[in-house]
Amino acid sequence: MKLSKWTLLLVTVMVTAALLPVAAKSQGNAAPAGNVNNGKELYLKYGCYACHGYTAQTGNGAHLVSTKLNLQGFTNYIRNPRTNGMPTYTSKVVPDQQAADLFAYIKTFKEPPAAKDIPLLNQILNEK
Ligand code: HEC
Repeated sequence: MKLSKWTLLLVTVMVTAALLPVAAKSQGNAAPAGNVNNGKELYLKYGCYACHGYTAQTGNGAHLVSTKLNLQGFTNYIRNPRTNGMPTYTSKVVPDQQAADLFAYIKTFKEPPAAKDIPLLNQILNEK
């Protein structure tokens, strides 16, 4: 049987259409998804809490809960902090997957309210 060129074209289009979403999906998932439970373990294991607090809201380091960094920026920062206070965590010590886990864990905390939004504090300040 001889296939016409239209049949071949049709088959090519159908195969391409079937494969495209797979290609698009694998590209979109380049950054590893973070696992919150692993992130919690790593946050304790690597001692992040010592400088950033158990809830990422306190400590001598930056208040991580308010970070404007995205996952990529976060990973770059811990690899090359460029400040004295923050230790360097290379990809050998904290691989990309672990960085994603840490980031996911940090993102589970809520930013603390501003001082003006704490009723008890306002009540004390307004007492005469
Ligand atoms: C010895 C103390 C110390 C430890 C331990 C530590 N940090 Fe830090 N970290 C700092 C300090 C200090 C800064 C603030 C540097 C600055 O603002 O110049 C900082 C800043 C950061 C920032 C930048 C935040 C921003 O928005 O700019 C990230 C992200 C960060 N730390 C993540 C981590 C993670 C994750 C760990 C654990 C793997 C960790 N740190 C452990 C001291 C520490």
